[in-house]
Amino acid sequence: MDSLKIQETRIQALGPVIRFHAPASCKVYTPLELATAMISGLGISSDGVWLEPSFGRAVFLRALKNLGVARDRVVAIDVDRRPTPFDELAISLRGTEFLGWAGHHQSCFDRIIGNPPYVAIERLNSRLQSLAASVSWGSIKPIGLNGNLWAAFLVRCLRLMRPGGCMSFVLPAAWDYADYAEGLRRELPKYFSRLVIHRCEDVLFSEVQDGCVVLQAFGFGGAKSETIRFQYSSAADLRSGLADGSLQSRRTNTNTVQFDFPSCARITADSVFNVRLGGVTGDAKFFLLKESVRKKLNIPVSACRPVLSRARHLVKAFANKQMWKSFRGEDERVWLFDPKSSQARLTAIRRYLQLPATEGGCNRKADWVGRRKPWYRVRIPKRIHGFVSGTSSRGPWICLNAMPRLAATNTLYVVEFKDLDSSRDKRAAWCLSLLTSDVQTQLQKIARVYAGGMKKFEPADLLSLKLPVPFKYSGASAEYSRAIKMLVSGDCEGAMQLADRHFELIGKPTAL
Ligand SMILES: C[S@@+](CC[C@H](N)C(=O)[O-])C[C@H]1O[C@@H](n2cnc3c(N)ncnc32)[C@H](O)[C@@H]1O
Repeated sequence: MDSLKIQETRIQALGPVIRFHAPASCKVYTPLELATAMISGLGISSDGVWLEPSFGRAVFLRALKNLGVARDRVVAIDVDRRPTPFDELAISLRGTEFLGWAGHHQSCFDRIIGNPPYVAIERLNSRLQSLAASVSWGSIKPIGLNGNLWAAFLVRCLRLMRPGGCMSFVLPAAWDYADYAEGLRRELPKYFSRLVIHRCEDVLFSEVQDGCVVLQAFGFGGAKSETIRFQYSSAADLRSGLADGSLQSRRTNTNTVQFDFPSCARITADSVFNVRLGGVTGDAKFFLLKESVRKKLNIPVSACRPVLSRARHLVKAFANKQMWKSFRGEDERVWLFDPKSSQARLTAIRRYLQLPATEGGCNRKADWVGRRKPWYRVRIPKRIHGFVSGTSSRGPWICLNAMPRLAATNTLYVVEFKDLDSSRDKRAAWCLSLLTSDVQTQLQKIARVYAGGMKKFEPADLLSLKLPVPFKYSGASAEYSRAIKMLVSGDCEGAMQLADRHFELIGKPTAL
C-alpha cells in the first residue's frame, strides 16, 4: 500500500490541491479510550481497509495499532503538516485537504472513522467553501453555505465507502438540531442497514463543554434501514455502549427512536471465524483408538488426546466432557494416539509404534505420515473453539467446544473465532446467525450436491457466507442450545425460526 503514497504525490501534482489552514478551534482531539471503543464497535476484520480523514494527533491510529490493525490497512489524512511520532502507524498523508482528496478516490474503504473538524463553511477560504457547500450524495442535498465542515466530511465519505462498509464519527451536538443537518439526518440512514446514534450528556473533551454524539453506521448499501438511538449520562457508559453489540437491552424510549427492524447488517464469516480441517492422521485406523483398545494396549491417557471424529458426534450445541464421555462409554473411537517424543520410550507406546502395518501398526508410507517429524505426532490446530461437519444433512452448524483439549480429526472441520476473548454468549450468537433463514438461503445456493443428493460445504464456502450481525448476546447460549436440540431432532424449520427471532428477522423480507 505504500505505492499509494507515490500515487498520491502524482495526483497532487496533477490535480488541483486545495490549500487550507485549519483554525486552532477545530483541533480538538479524541480521548484514546473513546477512539478504542469506536473502533471495537465497528469490528475488526483481517483484510478491511480503514480511513481516518482528519487524523490530527493520530489518536485513532494508536487505537487501531493497539487493536492489531496493520499499518498498511490504514490510510490517514490531515491538512495539518505537523507530524507526530505515530504517523508511522498508517499510510499518512499530511498536508492533504480531505474534501478535495476524496474527489479523486472512490469506493475503497471498508471502515471510516474519526472526529471531523467543526468549522462553519462561511469561514473557509473561497475554494474550500464552494466545495464544502456543494458536496452531495444521492438524495443528500448540498449542505450549503450555512452548513459546517463536519457535515460535508460525512457526506464526502460516502463516495469512499465499499459496499457493506461501516463508519463511525464523533459529531457535535448540532447533529441533533442544526437546520443545515436536517437533510443529512433524514437521508443518511437510507444508505445503511443500521444507523446507531449514541448521545452523551457528559463532557468528553476538556476544550468543548457541549455534550456530543457518536454515530455508527453499519452495512453501507444494505437493503433497508433502521435507526436506533441511545442516551448516556457518563462517558464510561458511552464507551461500553459503543463497544458492546448487545444493543437490544438499552434501546431508549424517546420519540425519535424507530422500532423497526427490517434487516440487519451482515459481514462475511471470515471476519468472524476461521474454518479449517481437523487433524489429518494419515492412518485413522492406527491413530484413532476406542477406549477398550487403549486399555488393551496399555496406552496411558496422557499419551492420547480426546477427539470427535464423526459427524454423528455433533449432537449438542456445546461439546462438553459429559457428551464426550458418553461416546467413550459407547466405545466410539474418541482417543487420538498422540504421544510426546519423551513418551515414545515407554514400553507400551514403543511396542505400538513398532507394530508392523500388517498387524495393526501404522502405515508409515501413507502420504501425511511420511511427511511428519516425528511421524507419530499428528498436527492439530492450536485453537479449537468449535466443530462443524461439512456433510451433515442438517448443517452446517457449529458445535461449540466446551471441553479442555478436545480436538477433532479431519472428518470434521474446526472453528477458531477471531476474537479470542469473546464470551460463550457472543460465540453462540454468531452460531445462531448461521441458522437464520438469511444464511440458509445462501447455503442452498452454494451447496455442492453429490450423488445421492448429499450436500457438501468446503471451509471456503462457509467462510464466504454473509452473516447477520448479532445485536444482542445475552441469553444466546441458552437459545442456541434450544435451537440445536430442535435441529438434531429433525426440526430444522423450528431451529431456523428460533434463530430468526433472535435476529428479529421473522416476517421480514430477506435481502442478500
Ligand atoms: C477535531 S480534530 C480531530 C483529530 C482526530 N481525528 C482526533 O479525533 O483526535 C480535526 C482535525 O481535522 C483537521 N482538518 C481540518 N480541516 C481539514 C480538511 N479540510 N481536510 C483534512 N483535515 C482537516 C485538523 O487539522 C484537525 O487535525
